[in-house]
Amino acid sequence: METGLTGKSALITGASRGIGRAIAFALAREGCSVMLSSRKKEALDAVAEELSAAYPDVRVETYAANAGDPEAAAACVAATVSALGGLDVLVNNAATNPYFGPLVDLDLARAEKTVRVNQYGIVLWTQLAWKAAMAERGGAIVNLASIGGFLTEPGIGYYNATKAAVIHLTRQFAAELAPKVAIRPSLTVGG
Ligand SMILES: NC(=O)c1ccc[n+]([C@@H]2O[C@H](COP(=O)([O-])OP(=O)(O)OC[C@H]3O[C@@H](n4cnc5c(N)ncnc54)[C@H](OP(=O)(O)O)[C@@H]3O)[C@@H](O)[C@H]2O)c1
Repeated sequence: METGLTGKSALITGASRGIGRAIAFALAREGCSVMLSSRKKEALDAVAEELSAAYPDVRVETYAANAGDPEAAAACVAATVSALGGLDVLVNNAATNPYFGPLVDLDLARAEKTVRVNQYGIVLWTQLAWKAAMAERGGAIVNLASIGGFLTEPGIGYYNATKAAVIHLTRQFAAELAPKVAIRPSLTVGG
């Protein structure tokens, strides 16, 4: 059965496992071509193999990129447009949590890594998707936030602060890019 996603093209970050992998399967099931991205090419290729076996008519590509690296992100978005013929759906799913502990002991290196991937990554990939395709063709962007963005919790306060930022950035981009692009936060519970 055809849906609004049939024949569209999606790029999913953090697609080598977990929620990103599940989103890739859900999109492929609708007949949407998918570009799978994360840092580890081998893990992505394994997911691509499974996806192609389940949905042989769907185009599946992989591209290894650190979500916090502007050059790698730009190359991945360009590869997506070139391989899939466009970019209609961006799923900003990749996130990291290198530190568990109280904020009073958080070090700069891990704070910077958390912000770069979880928070700046949302801005970076949205900018790239907008400039490469969505400013002209429109599209949809889903940002993986967390219920933790509204709460205080022991150990993961800084990670949760980046998720609070994701919720706000989603609102801000939704206002700035409407009506061309529909942007939604996805609020998962658990971490
Ligand atoms: N699971 C939960 O309970 C939960 C709850 C609330 C919110 N969330 C959010 O949902 C999203 C997915 O969570 P998950 O539990 O499925 O995560 P996960 O199982 O830990 O998987 C993380 C994915 O992101 C990739 N990744 C990690 N660092 C990256 C980086 N610097 N650049 C590019 N890719 C990177 C990983 O692949 P590589 O190692 O190959 O890079 C992997 O594919 C995240 O945004 C998370 O914050 C999850």
